[in-house]
Amino acid sequence: MHKEEVTAIAPGRINIIGEHTDYNYGWVMPAAIQKHTRITMNRIPGNICKVEALDLKDSFEFDIRDFSRIDHGWQNYVLGVVGEIMADGGTPGAFTCTIQSEVPVGGGMSSSAALECSIAVALNELFTLNIEKQRLIQACHRAEHNWVGIKSGIMDQFASMMGKRDHALLLDCKTLDYEYLPLQLEGYDILVLNTNVAHELASSEYNKRRNECEEGVYILKKYYPEIESLRDVQMDILLKHQSEIPPLIYSRCFHVIRENNRVHQATYAMRQNDIAGLGALLYESHYSLRDHYQVSCAELDFLVEHSKSEPAIAGSRMMGGGFGGSTISIIQSERTPAYIEKISSLYHESFGLELTSTIVATDDGARIV
Ligand code: GLA
Repeated sequence: MHKEEVTAIAPGRINIIGEHTDYNYGWVMPAAIQKHTRITMNRIPGNICKVEALDLKDSFEFDIRDFSRIDHGWQNYVLGVVGEIMADGGTPGAFTCTIQSEVPVGGGMSSSAALECSIAVALNELFTLNIEKQRLIQACHRAEHNWVGIKSGIMDQFASMMGKRDHALLLDCKTLDYEYLPLQLEGYDILVLNTNVAHELASSEYNKRRNECEEGVYILKKYYPEIESLRDVQMDILLKHQSEIPPLIYSRCFHVIRENNRVHQATYAMRQNDIAGLGALLYESHYSLRDHYQVSCAELDFLVEHSKSEPAIAGSRMMGGGFGGSTISIIQSERTPAYIEKISSLYHESFGLELTSTIVATDDGARIV
């Protein structure tokens, strides 16, 4: 007997390290978190679907037989997932659904992937589509490209779908091979501080960075035809051809190649329980995102600079696409509450904005509840 109603949740994510490496087919180290998007979906007769975003107090309708992307808006995440699942051969019927989310929009914790993945999992269950998770991830990823228009990598959808409580994912974005790394930072918290700013530049600059990386690959490919992405480039090759690469493109490539190395070093540090070593890599990652990749902003830099003068913090960096969103820090648990209080008031004094803090609890991936 088929179901009439399902509820699905999908988590947001943090990323310990590996920023702007996913669409360069490199490595990332995200983890799913206990902040979710929740979808309740009902089967209905006819063809007109109705979708309601409870937090936004907004809703829309579409005809399941014939729909296309709209100009701009959250609706494209929903339409995109339905459309891409249908393009992949899935045949959902009409439905109504409500959406509620605890993942802050623009907070660098991937509210968009949480929305996409929760819709995908709900559709899959309600209409018994029997699509395996890896294919749902791809459909959600295509929704982001083809419907939302952001040429993102696969990290967010992968983490939201495949996360595992108490673990980070070490994901190879080329082969999609992955491993679960135990996330036991004994005596430490993972603290996410949301700047509550989302600068306009985020999506246009994001796609621009992707093109800049591709330009680097294009130049290097003339010498090494086997190079398909920056993932295949080692630092000695980049250095050797520095004079032929425009300085801006060189800086972008420099960040990506080093950041990929940092993911491997961080994996080693985690396995050795070397928190100081892991923390140092977080700082290095931030400075590279700020100086070479140029995706940070004053608010993020302010938070990272302050963490430097706090001995209880092992490391800190901006997280996600940049131009706002959050920082991630590794901090001694006993010091966390006092630090949150101090940094929130300093942040408010400097920017006139509230800082939102989250002590991260990891979670499993998207599922029916
Ligand atoms: C955003 C994108 C991800 C990834 C990060 C940067 O979150 O959705 O695919 O590229 O930025 O690492």
